[in-house]
Amino acid sequence: MQRLFPVTDETVARPGGTAPDGEGAPGAGPVLSPGAVSGDREWTLHELAAAYAYPETGPGGREPWLRANMISTLDGAAQHDGRSQPISCPADMRIFGVLRGLADVVIVGAQTVRQEGYRPAREPEAFAALRKEAGQGPAPAIAVVSASLELDFSAPLFTSPLVPTLVLTGTAAPPDRVTAAEKAGAQVVIAGDGVGVDPVRAVRALADRGMTRLLAEGGPRLLGQLIASGALDELCLTVSPMLTAGDAQRIAGGPSVTVPRRFALVSLLEEDGFLFGRYGRA
Ligand SMILES: NC(=O)c1ccc[n+]([C@@H]2O[C@H](COP(=O)([O-])OP(=O)(O)OC[C@H]3O[C@@H](n4cnc5c(N)ncnc54)[C@H](OP(=O)(O)O)[C@@H]3O)[C@@H](O)[C@H]2O)c1
Repeated sequence: MQRLFPVTDETVARPGGTAPDGEGAPGAGPVLSPGAVSGDREWTLHELAAAYAYPETGPGGREPWLRANMISTLDGAAQHDGRSQPISCPADMRIFGVLRGLADVVIVGAQTVRQEGYRPAREPEAFAALRKEAGQGPAPAIAVVSASLELDFSAPLFTSPLVPTLVLTGTAAPPDRVTAAEKAGAQVVIAGDGVGVDPVRAVRALADRGMTRLLAEGGPRLLGQLIASGALDELCLTVSPMLTAGDAQRIAGGPSVTVPRRFALVSLLEEDGFLFGRYGRA
């Protein structure tokens, strides 16, 4: 990747970091070593991984950490023609891949799965050793959040993932669809009493399965609930230098919160006019 460089001195990551468990996480103290990564050159995947590392394991063990990764145009659109690809760029996809490489599980709303044709996560070759060292499987599991379970269980996402795909749902999920999911090889996880999932319970249910490095990839209806429930710890936001007008969704929807949630800028990278911000709970 060319010309991905820190916009401010404070955003320069340590070189040769050993993410995912290395320094660089929000709350882990000063992580940045101005000048350590020279400006106008391509960051290696490992440097990016160090810059986006999850928090270190605490004395009481690893606490779940829920990060979301989203992209928005300058005028707030989270998609164009129903997909996020037209507002993305290669650097955004590179960071998308790094975030997946660091995660135990990718949480995604069913509509995004249906609309974007989600496939199983690939084995991130560049992260194989780091994942092994961190006690992670070859690739993150995909956890689809759905109330209806109206999903194509004959798709590769369910029939041939590297690690079994999870379906997060509530107790009122249609039993025939639960059976169809399980027959396809998916693991159905109940994380809500009634129709749908309680986000806080979903985080706990995943942590109970040893999945604490959580990555939500949207869409907006799901992200709105992660924000409203207070479950979201971090937002990785790409600002795409595009204007689309129209009636696209914003990155988060649903009822607004009573008091706006304040997040703090952790790091900011730029390439080709795209800004890659990392924000943690203030
Ligand atoms: N800009 C970005 O970064 C970005 C990221 C992702 C997606 N997108 C775009 O966003 C659009 C799709 O997003 P969206 O907001 O419409 O949908 P979404 O959040 O991806 O999915 C909504 C669906 O998720 C399930 N769901 C959500 N909350 C639930 C809960 N608490 N319990 C159980 N199920 C729950 C429901 O599935 P069921 O209907 O199956 O019950 C619901 O219909 C696409 O155009 C996609 O391209 C953009």
